[in-house]
Amino acid sequence: MRQTVRVDLLDTEALTRSAVVANNAMNRERRLSGPNSYARELGFDPSAFLRTRPGAAWLDLCCGAGHALRQAAEALPDNGITLVGVDLVDHFAAPDAAGVAYVCAEWTTWDPGRRFDLITCVHGLHYVGDKLEALRRAASWLTDDGTFVADCDLDGIALDRRTLLSSLRRNGFQYDARKRRITLTGRREVVFPFAYLGADDHAGPNYTGQPAVRSHYR
Ligand SMILES: C[S@@+](CC[C@H](N)C(=O)[O-])C[C@H]1O[C@@H](n2cnc3c(N)ncnc32)[C@H](O)[C@@H]1O
Repeated sequence: MRQTVRVDLLDTEALTRSAVVANNAMNRERRLSGPNSYARELGFDPSAFLRTRPGAAWLDLCCGAGHALRQAAEALPDNGITLVGVDLVDHFAAPDAAGVAYVCAEWTTWDPGRRFDLITCVHGLHYVGDKLEALRRAASWLTDDGTFVADCDLDGIALDRRTLLSSLRRNGFQYDARKRRITLTGRREVVFPFAYLGADDHAGPNYTGQPAVRSHYR
């Protein structure tokens, strides 16, 4: 006899109160470069990207303590760059750091009101409820030739893998399955043919070893 396993799904508001999302054991301390760093996770150093684009804007979603942004501001003081960090939890190490705007907000409900040349998310999407809405929004915040890069575990999206991948590709995203990294170049009006049902915060650890959130769609 087939058994149906019932999963209690949380909406975005309830998820923000989940112990999985507010988990203190998360690594929120990554630096710009070095062993525990953005350069290592993203495959490039954001400050090198910004150095060649004076006046550019970098948005770091799920920025944690925000060290990488602060270090970029220190490394490029006269570059005219705009640096914005967003995180659900107000754990910013230096909230008044010169040249950085830290915003305490939820990715899928926040609106930056501007475009960015670089949008990153280092190990943050794993904890977002509506991951496809998060991707759709990030795509709409890019400049015409902007770059979006994020760690992304497709096991955290409860959809048929081939259907999901083909929908991501149709919308311009590229997915590196080995590195579990999603990228997009250039602003897009993304449309996904899936309705968000809610998030499962009891899905267990993902490939990072930390408990993550599984997002459900139909
Ligand atoms: C593993 S930490 C990574 C922090 C930082 N990127 C780093 O590498 O140091 C994940 C971060 O995502 C944040 N986060 C989780 N869900 C979020 C959401 N829906 N909107 C904004 N931030 C979120 C958490 O508060 C946490 O600081």
